[in-house]
Amino acid sequence: RAVSLIGAPTDVGASDRGASMGPEAMRVAGLHQALAQRGLDVVDRGNLAGPANPWQTPSSGYRHLREVVEWNQRVHDAMYAELRHERLPILLGGDHSLGIGSISAVARHCRDTGRSLRILWLDAHADFNTSELSPSGNIHGMPVACLCGFGPSELTRIGGAVPAIQPQWIRQIGIRSVDAGEKRFVHEQGLEVFDMRFIDEVGVRQTMEMALEGLDDRTHLHVSFDVDFLDPEIAPGVGTTIPGGPTYREAQLCMEMIADTGRMGSLDVMELNPALDVRNRTAVLAVDLIESLFGKSTLMRKHAPPR
Ligand code: ARG
Ligand code: MN
Ligand code: MN
Ligand code: MN
Repeated sequence: RAVSLIGAPTDVGASDRGASMGPEAMRVAGLHQALAQRGLDVVDRGNLAGPANPWQTPSSGYRHLREVVEWNQRVHDAMYAELRHERLPILLGGDHSLGIGSISAVARHCRDTGRSLRILWLDAHADFNTSELSPSGNIHGMPVACLCGFGPSELTRIGGAVPAIQPQWIRQIGIRSVDAGEKRFVHEQGLEVFDMRFIDEVGVRQTMEMALEGLDDRTHLHVSFDVDFLDPEIAPGVGTTIPGGPTYREAQLCMEMIADTGRMGSLDVMELNPALDVRNRTAVLAVDLIESLFGKSTLMRKHAPPR
């Protein structure tokens, strides 16, 4: 399988500076080599360029809207080009606002090729705010809403169709921090959320079986992995840590079960913040988990364990 790495070194959508260093930290942690070792044909396209972070306060409900739009257009174009060449793009963020450009490109590719789209949103946060609901104005808290058509038109129309996606295509996993108004809106739009309580009650195995239910050979599976999905004890290198996330074992199982579907067609790895990390350990962990996403496992299994 042909894989392309695309770096998007920006933090214009975030509340903390530093996610702009994420792509380089992933390279330093050996992402390219780890994937090549799995027999994948890996090309690193290097980093996209875009506007600097002006570090302004929000204006009419959005922080850095112009810069976020510009970065997302570039991300869209880069992701779409890889998909058209039948390559699997891995977006190295960068803050999670770039999920707008990435997933609108994936949705466009699915329209072109007559595929259905399933999105796994692995995150501590629902990222379903609008400018009216957001407590911060940070656009990294808004990408899912923008993709569903709720947001400024410069962002909702990036992939050429509004809305880019339907709420029913998304499965959110690991959620444990949702703002009050955002929570009402998640319910109103009927997002399928497997929050941490759900994982506590039924375990990762059944959660992932449910989240992956109904995939077929016409499904493109997109994984949007916000590194703050992981418990901060194992993944300190993110801006918005929330306690009570998946452990190392739980995260591994989650990635292995995604790999088992054989349907993953694109991936975002977002919000890694080396300025807050400890000796790059969060990037090393992310690389380890990505290897599992691409099928690395301990043994070839003869039998699945009993239910
Ligand atoms: N809900 C908060 C906000 O809207 C935090 C969002 C964090 N998002 C993220 N991609 N880390 O500001
Ligand atoms: Mn394709
Ligand atoms: Mn998050
Ligand atoms: Mn996020």
